[in-house]
Amino acid sequence: MFSLLHRNDLVIPERSVKIMFGPKSHLTSRSDHLFMEDVDCFALAQQQGTPLYVTSESRLRENIRAYHRAFPHADKYFAVKANGNLTLLRIAAQEGMGADVFSAGELSVVRMAGIPRDMILYNGNSKSEKDHEMAILAGVRMSVDSREELEHLAKTAKRMGREAEILFRVNPDVSPKTHPKIATGLRSSKFGIPAEQVAQTYQRAMGLAGIKPVGLHCHIGSQILDTLPFAEAAGKMMDIAAAVVALGGKVHRIDLGGGLGIQYHPDLPAPTPDDLAAAVLPIFQDRCRDLGIAPRLILEPGRSIVADTTVMLTTVNVVKRAHVNFVAVDAGFNVLARPMLYDSYHHVVVASRIDAPAEETYTVVGPICETGDVLAKDRRLPALERGDVLAFLDAGAYGFSMASQYNGQPRPAEVLVSGDQAEVTRRAEDASALLAGQRILPRLMW
Ligand code: LLP
Repeated sequence: MFSLLHRNDLVIPERSVKIMFGPKSHLTSRSDHLFMEDVDCFALAQQQGTPLYVTSESRLRENIRAYHRAFPHADKYFAVKANGNLTLLRIAAQEGMGADVFSAGELSVVRMAGIPRDMILYNGNSKSEKDHEMAILAGVRMSVDSREELEHLAKTAKRMGREAEILFRVNPDVSPKTHPKIATGLRSSKFGIPAEQVAQTYQRAMGLAGIKPVGLHCHIGSQILDTLPFAEAAGKMMDIAAAVVALGGKVHRIDLGGGLGIQYHPDLPAPTPDDLAAAVLPIFQDRCRDLGIAPRLILEPGRSIVADTTVMLTTVNVVKRAHVNFVAVDAGFNVLARPMLYDSYHHVVVASRIDAPAEETYTVVGPICETGDVLAKDRRLPALERGDVLAFLDAGAYGFSMASQYNGQPRPAEVLVSGDQAEVTRRAEDASALLAGQRILPRLMW
């Protein structure tokens, strides 16, 4: 089912190698072609077809190791919603990551990838009784999002004769200065228990049969480019920990969530895991010492682990000179939803003419029957023609995982690159995927 491509088809002779994006980059320009590690992305697109998600194994491992170096004593739970590819999850497991899961489906996938149950946190603001049962049976910790959920969960645990270990999701009321649709720690957001109610709720949980409260959890938002909100959230979490301790509670785990942004735009640099550590560790460590507690610190990075590992390759179908210069490619918001949903910027390069000078201004649009199907607006690019392959960079987080079959578009394949090897980790869907699970009702057959 999974194919290994012939290496020699993808590697072209190396005339000039130019590192494109930073000194340790997995993306280089060689003889005017975009390379990921030692694989020619243009040749790969020709061979596999497009749209195509392509991920660098070495970059993924390096990103995880950067977190381990910055936070040697913390657990890192990969936020599976960012990328649920089984092979990438397997690599995350090999590199010692746990997982933040947000559904029973994500839980099944990470268990299959080999992530130990002790390193999984089952999150969610809207869990059903079945979700609670599944998490209890799987023996994973849950993050409880409300006082109401606590009571529901206690009933289920009691009925099952089991004990559920829980953290409480805190709404710390911190503004992360990011797109409003992905700010989660604001007072007005649907997530978490208002900070001032958490200690009391914790105390209630301590007296409930079937429930063992072990810690606190928050997540203030995503694509955050400033470390100050993280420091503010860490301080508020430690205030709550102090209140819990004062009520006789035990705090074994403090989970500060994910959210560290990445550099999508050449002019908008992002903090590194080291910067994040410098902002939050002193607060965490000092306050723990003052309180005389030694909880485990947990982080839940998604984007900063996978975004820059991956490019999305797409082929130009039409270059149309109208009131606007449109480039219509074979991927739309069905493949990469972020630009449409959040007006996100993804840097675009031409995979077979990477060093060519920009000559034209283009708006890159997809094949979907909606005017909003714009992937990149007013970009300066070399003159394009039908058959050119564009690479959308930093597509590894919330790329494939948010892809849909809208407009009868099967989802694309995913490939993992390692050195000069390119292996399909998820094959492309075909039209049969559009029919999966469907039937024509027998009474309508005649
Ligand atoms: N933990 C929790 C509880 C979360 O809700 C999230 C993301 C994360 C961790 C990981 O955050 P990260 O490190 O990836 O920022 N689809 C949007 C992003 C939604 C994020 C939702 N929660 C996008 O494409 O920008």
